[in-house]
Amino acid sequence: MNQAVKLNLGCGAQTPDGWIHVDFAPGARFAKFPFFRSINKKLKLFDINWNRKIIIHNLTKKFPWKESSVDVIYSSHTLEHFTREDGRRFLSECYRVLRKDGIIRIVVPDLRSLVDEYLKNNIPADQFVENLGVLYENRSNVLKKHMVKFIEFPHKCMYDSRRLIEIMRDIGFDVSCRAAFDSDIPDIRTIELEERTENAVIAEGRKT
Ligand SMILES: C[S@@+](CC[C@H](N)C(=O)[O-])C[C@H]1O[C@@H](n2cnc3c(N)ncnc32)[C@H](O)[C@@H]1O
Repeated sequence: MNQAVKLNLGCGAQTPDGWIHVDFAPGARFAKFPFFRSINKKLKLFDINWNRKIIIHNLTKKFPWKESSVDVIYSSHTLEHFTREDGRRFLSECYRVLRKDGIIRIVVPDLRSLVDEYLKNNIPADQFVENLGVLYENRSNVLKKHMVKFIEFPHKCMYDSRRLIEIMRDIGFDVSCRAAFDSDIPDIRTIELEERTENAVIAEGRKT
């Protein structure tokens, strides 16, 4: 039997076996060159020890997989880094490449729970703005300060459960909100990180 094709889109450092990992961060590109890896060990330009097997692709562009060729798509804390329009295009591409009944699971920060915490006076205003993830980090390292636009990806759009489900249904998915690790993906525990599910919207569905 053929092995299921499972994509982890916007993988970052989360690259367990059994999945095809995709990202376009400069660190992931450079990690393919042993020379660069040894320089990075000394200069620590990139915080992540990037897996050299990551497929480099800008996920706001057309995907390199054929229509109806993918069984599972997992994407955690990535959609919010795309503009509203790029996010729609990304989800439409997910729909195109998934086979019928293929599973999609999208995890994003929950704007509503961040705002609720602020309105309940549980966090101060400046912390709230930082928690939105829309700013570049203030780096003390001079080199990193100049590189920040290439190594950091602030949020460009944010979602709550109602809006994410609405958008995914519009695209054609049969989708609902799920709890952490509650999934039809059999090996969900290899890919989902508990800390990424806190204050997050988790939408899982199928291509109908
Ligand atoms: C916040 S990290 C999430 C990493 C991991 N999935 C997790 O949940 O911890 C977002 C990832 O999306 C990647 N990313 C952002 N924009 C992208 C794009 N246009 N194409 C491909 N990857 C992108 C970044 O390089 C980064 O690794």
